[in-house]
Amino acid sequence: MYIAADNRYEKMVYRRCGRSGLKLPAVSLGFWQNFGSRGCFANMEEMVHTAFDLGITHFDLANNYGNPYNGSAEENFGRILDGMRHYRDEMCISTKAGYEMWEGPYGDRNGSRKYLLASLDQSLKRMKLDYVDIFYHHVFDPDTPPEETALALDHAVKQGKALYVGISNYNRAQTEEILKIFRELHTPYVVNQPSYSMLNRWIERDGLDRFAGEAGFGLAVFSPLYQGFLTDKYLKGIPADSRVGKGETWIGNELNEQMLEKLKQLNAIAAERGQKLSQMALSWVLHNEAVATVLIGASRPQQIVENAACIEKLDFTAEELSRIEAILKN
Ligand SMILES: NC(=O)c1ccc[n+]([C@@H]2O[C@H](COP(=O)([O-])OP(=O)(O)OC[C@H]3O[C@@H](n4cnc5c(N)ncnc54)[C@H](OP(=O)(O)O)[C@@H]3O)[C@@H](O)[C@H]2O)c1
Repeated sequence: MYIAADNRYEKMVYRRCGRSGLKLPAVSLGFWQNFGSRGCFANMEEMVHTAFDLGITHFDLANNYGNPYNGSAEENFGRILDGMRHYRDEMCISTKAGYEMWEGPYGDRNGSRKYLLASLDQSLKRMKLDYVDIFYHHVFDPDTPPEETALALDHAVKQGKALYVGISNYNRAQTEEILKIFRELHTPYVVNQPSYSMLNRWIERDGLDRFAGEAGFGLAVFSPLYQGFLTDKYLKGIPADSRVGKGETWIGNELNEQMLEKLKQLNAIAAERGQKLSQMALSWVLHNEAVATVLIGASRPQQIVENAACIEKLDFTAEELSRIEAILKN
C-alpha cells in the first residue's frame, strides 16, 4: 500500500477556484495522453505517486482520455487508486463528457442529458468511485439547448455523483449564457477549462479570463506548455520519444525555425530567472489571476518534479514581462 510523503503540503501552493470554497493546487496533473492502454502501468503509477507526494491533489480526467481514446486512462487511474483510496478525501478528481466516446447518437460529440449522465456512470465505474469532485461538459455543443446541458450537470450533483460542475472549451459568450442557468438552478458551477499558454492566448482576446474574475469562477487551464513546446525538449532537435517525435500532436508542424528562435529567446530569460523554460512558462500562466490551476501533462515522473517547482518563483518583474511580451508578439 502506498504511503504519501509527510511534508507534501509544504511543497505546493493552493489557490481558490474563483470565489468558491474549493482550493486547487497551483499545478494539477492531467491524464489525457500518457495514461492509456498503450502506456506502461508502473510509470503511470509512479507519476501519480510523485505528483501526490508534491502536494498535487487535483487529477484531471475525461471519459475518453487514454491513447487510444477509450476510457483506458480512467481504468488505469482506478487501478492506481486501489493502492491509495485511503487518501480519497485529500484528492480532487475531475472527469468530463462531451467529445466522441461510444458508437451511435448517444455517445457522439454532444451535450445531451442522455449522454452526460450515462457517461458519468461509466466513468465512476471505471475509476471505482462513488462520486467525482468536478464533472465537466467537455466541449460546447451548438445543437443542445444550454438548459438541457446545465440541468444534466445539476442532476449529477443532486444524485451525489459530482460535488461541483465545470465547462470546458466554452468561450465567453457561451459561458455567459449557461452561467445564467446555473445561477437560476443554484448549481455549484466553479470552474471553466480552456487552453492557455504563452503561445495560445485566445482567452485574453475573448475576455474569458476577465469574465472569470468578474463572475467568480476559476480557470483550470490546459496545455500550459503548449503540449511540450515551452520546455527545453525541442531546442536541440526532435527526440524520437517526444509527443512531436511520435506524431501524437496536430501542432507538430508549428515547430519551425521561427518558433525555435522564439523558444530559445524565452529559454534565455528563464535561465536569467534561475528557472527552466517549462517552469517559467507555468509561472507566466499562473501570473494571470483568473487562473486557479495549470493542468500539466507528463510522460515521466521527472517532468512532474520539474514542473511543480515553478511555484518557487511565481513573480515577474515588469521588465521581464515586457521582454517576454516583445518575444511573443514578434
Ligand atoms: N479540456 C480539454 O479539451 C483538454 C484538452 C487537452 C488537455 N486537457 C487537460 O490538460 C492536461 C495537460 O495537457 P497537455 O498534456 O497538452 O499539457 P502540456 O503540459 O502543455 O504538455 C504536456 C507534455 O509536455 C511535455 N513535458 C511536460 N513537462 C516537461 C518537462 N519538464 N520537460 C520536457 N517536456 C515536458 C511532455 O511531452 P512528451 O510526451 O513529449 O514527453 C508532456 O506530455 C491533459 O492531460 C488534460 O488533463 C484538456
